[in-house]
Amino acid sequence: MKIMVAGKGGAGKTTVSGTVARALGRAGHSVLALDADANPMLGVSLGVGAERTDLLLGVRQGLETGEVEHEPTIEGMIERFGADAPDGVRLVVANRIDNDTPGCQCCGVSADQLLRELEDGERTVLCDLEAGLGTVLRMAPDSVDVVLVVANPTAKALEVARRAVAIAADKTEVIVLANRVRDDADLDAIRAAIPDRELIVVPEDATIARADRDGLAPIDLDPYSPGVTVLVALADRLAGAAVPG
Ligand SMILES: Nc1ncnc2c1ncn2[C@@H]1O[C@H](COP(=O)(O)OP(=O)(O)O)[C@@H](O)[C@H]1O
Ligand SMILES: [Mg+2]
Repeated sequence: MKIMVAGKGGAGKTTVSGTVARALGRAGHSVLALDADANPMLGVSLGVGAERTDLLLGVRQGLETGEVEHEPTIEGMIERFGADAPDGVRLVVANRIDNDTPGCQCCGVSADQLLRELEDGERTVLCDLEAGLGTVLRMAPDSVDVVLVVANPTAKALEVARRAVAIAADKTEVIVLANRVRDDADLDAIRAAIPDRELIVVPEDATIARADRDGLAPIDLDPYSPGVTVLVALADRLAGAAVPG
């Protein structure tokens, strides 16, 4: 199964991606977490730590300077440029490197291409996108199984989320997360912008904010905090949807 996480910058995509990936891994599923942001921070929300997340990118960038050998296959890239996160999650930074070595996967591949060409098989591939609508716009119909659209109760985030839902719903299944909801007024604002859709409501959660401040995975700080609990339940639901029949 392939899952993409979309929304405005700061909406909570990385938090959602990291926590859902960890919860899936914890439940025994094989998980590949793809960081498709040009500023890759997924490692932090996965609990790999800020320093190792940085290092991971460093290895990848060694390609540009010729310190690191090129890797011709996608599986090889996952092996070589990936890192192990807790709960058995494999993290890969899919940051595109604009090196014009002809036919070289590891240099020329973009996140959406990686997502498209990757075999999911038994594993769940979870892709944390960069902000905005680019990848959702370019996405081929049914190239991913689910797009998680993260909305916040702010006018700007809602506009991005509304458009992401409209574009993605023509291509595949969409699940909308109403993130950082403080009260009924917040929820009403999100409902008004994205009507007639089920909303997964993730409350404003002090644990999530604290985890980010300290460079930790929210699920490591408190797996039962209100926001993390909702994301763990979402992971369960996604895993259930992946079971054939
Ligand atoms: N439910 C939540 N409660 C409190 N803080 C949150 C919540 N979701 C996200 N945040 C905070 O919002 C900020 C942006 O989240 P992040 O996941 O990095 O967004 P994105 O990846 O969409 O840019 C982070 O500081 C994060 O800790
Ligand atoms: Mg992010």
